[in-house]
Amino acid sequence: MKFYITTAIDYINGKPHIGHSYEKVAADVLARLNRFKDEADVLFLTGTDEHGAKIAQFAKDQGLEPQRFADQTAGLFQKTWDNLELSYDRFIRTSDPDHVQTVQKILEQIKANGYLYEGEYTGLYCVGHEAFLTEKELVDGVCPDHKTKPEQVTEKNWFLKVSAFTEQIREKIEDDELRIWPAERRNEVLSLLKQGFNDIAISRPNVKWGIPLPWDKAQTVYVWVDALINYVSGAGFTSDPAQFKKYWPADLHVIGKDIIKFHCIIWPAILLAAHLEVPRGVTVHGYLTVGGQKMSKSLGNVIDPNVWAAKFGSDAVRYLLLREVVWGQDGDVSEEKLRARYEGDLANGLGNLVSRLTNMLEKFCDGAIPEIERAHIPLDEANELAGSFRFHEALIKIWEAVAWGNEYIDKNKPWELAKTDPEKLKKVLSEVAAQLQEIALKLAPFLPHTAERIRQALQGEQIVKINDLFPKVE
Ligand code: MSP
Repeated sequence: MKFYITTAIDYINGKPHIGHSYEKVAADVLARLNRFKDEADVLFLTGTDEHGAKIAQFAKDQGLEPQRFADQTAGLFQKTWDNLELSYDRFIRTSDPDHVQTVQKILEQIKANGYLYEGEYTGLYCVGHEAFLTEKELVDGVCPDHKTKPEQVTEKNWFLKVSAFTEQIREKIEDDELRIWPAERRNEVLSLLKQGFNDIAISRPNVKWGIPLPWDKAQTVYVWVDALINYVSGAGFTSDPAQFKKYWPADLHVIGKDIIKFHCIIWPAILLAAHLEVPRGVTVHGYLTVGGQKMSKSLGNVIDPNVWAAKFGSDAVRYLLLREVVWGQDGDVSEEKLRARYEGDLANGLGNLVSRLTNMLEKFCDGAIPEIERAHIPLDEANELAGSFRFHEALIKIWEAVAWGNEYIDKNKPWELAKTDPEKLKKVLSEVAAQLQEIALKLAPFLPHTAERIRQALQGEQIVKINDLFPKVE
């Protein structure tokens, strides 16, 4: 079995922030889950979106050539994902040579299939969105997301006949051949399709920092078309055709709610025009907010995941994101919330259970683990919940088992049993160890580092002391 999962690729006009991290961590959990649970061959792709007017302008403001600027910032994104222990198989950059070749090949294929035409377009271009907006979408004459006035442009472009595919796309979504979660987002896409969808420009004439159209070098590929094709390049379309054949179509695109139209309408249209299969699924998350406001560079309220990871550890950051925010909805995050989860659920809950058990094993059983019994609370449901994007519910289930372990120790008082009933002592410790083993197994996709430490402790490779797993943070 194969499982190909991707995240959105981030714009590099700023440093990675915790909002970008959210879907990356969720996708990582799903990638790890599929590797463990179904032993699937997983391909997990993430990366950076580097071309276009927005990035060119930003590089210029810094006095750098766009490529040089992109090299620096892409490195920062990759390092951040490494700090969060993301198990991606490839970090794709849209300036990678095989991606450039793939974009050109796909567009030539679409042209040969007769779905491109030349035209002229007049409209309002929002550089922040890298997209044309309509009058209706503006608030007081400015883009409501970026608070900037869009440019009025008239330009020659090549257009894709999206309209030739809208009916087919609608059918695929209705038949669940292309699944969209959650249901509200699926309905949103279906209603957009019912309203009818205009053809889109796939190239722009005055944007130098981009991929040239092979047959019209005065034009570069529209940055969204360039970016979407990363999912095909990343599977090996040009660099490894055998791998591409194995993994395409993508099983799941993990994206935020602001880019649904691109992924659920424009992307399938590009693929159908190129005679390629459409993805099997798209899962859509909400925004991380700070004090109720969307976290974004333009609003200046960003949180650096590296700072939180350095202070509390990457597992704590992963835990906060997936426990605190309900998938599909917006959710507020803050350092206070992270600290509360860290001190409560992690240190006092899980950390305490692990250190109590390992200390008692050392004291009463010479560190040897009594024969492990079946876990009192089996946690298979946690896998199912995570697999259907109910991450917070999966974690709640796992923490019910953590609470059971701590309560079971309190109730049975093994330190007293050590004097009165050594047989029962062994049984109680083995029951708690079995539960902890089950907890570690189900926790592994979420908190890989912690799960590995618990596994080692349970195999007697290492004794975990109090506060060792989640030390006090000042
Ligand atoms: N470059 C495009 C995506 C191209 S995919 C072929 C883009 N980049 S982005 O940097 O603006 O956003 C990348 C991802 O991060 C998107 O899925 C977006 O929804 C997500 N987030 C950006 N800010 C966010 C929050 N504050 N909260 C949660 N996710 C948000 O769009």
